Amino acid sequence: MKPNWIAPAQRLKALPPYVFARLDELKARAREQGLDLIDLGMGNPDGLAPRPAIDAAIAAFEQPLHHGYPPFEGTSSFREAIATWYKRRYSVHLDPDSEALPLLGSKEGLTHLALAYVDPGDIVIVPSPSYPAHFRGPLIAGATLHQLQLSAENNWLIDLSVIPEDVARQAKIFYFNYPNNPTTATAPREFFEEIVGFARHYEILLVHDLCYAELAFDGYQPTSLLEISGAKEIGVEFHTLSKTYNMAGWRVGFVVGNSRIIQGLRTLKTNLDYGIFAVIQKAAETALQLPDTYVQEVQERYRSRRDFLISGLAELGWNVPKSKATMYLWIPCPVGMQSTDFALEVLQTTGVVVTPGNAFGEAGEGYVRISLIADRDRLGKSLNRWKNAGIRYQPETALVSAVGDR
Ligand SMILES: Cc1ncc(COP(=O)(O)O)c(C=O)c1O
Repeated sequence: MKPNWIAPAQRLKALPPYVFARLDELKARAREQGLDLIDLGMGNPDGLAPRPAIDAAIAAFEQPLHHGYPPFEGTSSFREAIATWYKRRYSVHLDPDSEALPLLGSKEGLTHLALAYVDPGDIVIVPSPSYPAHFRGPLIAGATLHQLQLSAENNWLIDLSVIPEDVARQAKIFYFNYPNNPTTATAPREFFEEIVGFARHYEILLVHDLCYAELAFDGYQPTSLLEISGAKEIGVEFHTLSKTYNMAGWRVGFVVGNSRIIQGLRTLKTNLDYGIFAVIQKAAETALQLPDTYVQEVQERYRSRRDFLISGLAELGWNVPKSKATMYLWIPCPVGMQSTDFALEVLQTTGVVVTPGNAFGEAGEGYVRISLIADRDRLGKSLNRWKNAGIRYQPETALVSAVGDR
């Protein structure tokens, strides 16, 4: 028999272990036992896609032309809707033919971009923690990662000054994402100016993931990379309809920016897929045209969940600052606990699923991420279960004061 018969390719071996595996196993077991799981693990929005998007999809279903292969580069009407949305939202002009490309969800594009641009050994700069596709995509492509360890002390903001000169000179791609998953951090516009200057100076392809473009609160408006002068020369920005529009299962997103970079991704994708079902593109273009009141309602929903959970966690000893954006809370584990152990304990004792921070890279150790994907009723139930199970931020402090009170 051949020695490597049916062994996975080396590129799969480069991937770090899948932290969710044990959690998935325990989730399945808990469900089998009839436990009422409250899954706040994934960033998987609850509820329906917007009604007008669903209606547009239903109408599009009736047209035979939508049942064939869609155009590789996406329908022209969806690309035009993307350009119009960009103009409305950021006052940035995009050529819908060359500077916008629909994707089967942004994760697909973020990963394939690495396959289109990274040769084995190329250096890719990526923060830790970060959304897994930002480092798993480059790893599949054979990249050498230069991981920037972010920290709470620096508000999870990237510090460009710690990147060694030789790394900056050799780096090919730099992935980043603000408002950030998992840390919920936001970056000021000056940071975007700084990173664009850095990427232009060192001729690095800048990849910004603006997944949480609209999930912002208290008047905060996230910055688009393309608002920054000169960004289009070196950068692309990824967007998704998964979060704002509750369309995670529909698999639709897009990338905009530098036309040459987008052309490379398009070339790769014409060899991999046939694009997005045209019915879904119709729904997506309808969603992008919704009035601002739709987005305001979504923001209000997440803001109210954020505030509710933050005040409940305060009673359990957590002092969580109000995040300006995203659909998560990022909280430290009780002192001395590793993130996987804490997430497993929470699951086993309360049936509430949270994501261990180390799933997002080494620097996420010591934290867990809670998704705001349940209504206040379910969030309240989660908090009660934590309280009853004695889940607290610093159990030993609580114990000391309980003893002292006697
Ligand atoms: C930062 C970030 N980028 C991309 C995605 C994936 O989005 P999509 O559903 O468009 O693939 C997520 C999902 O959680 C995310 O948090």
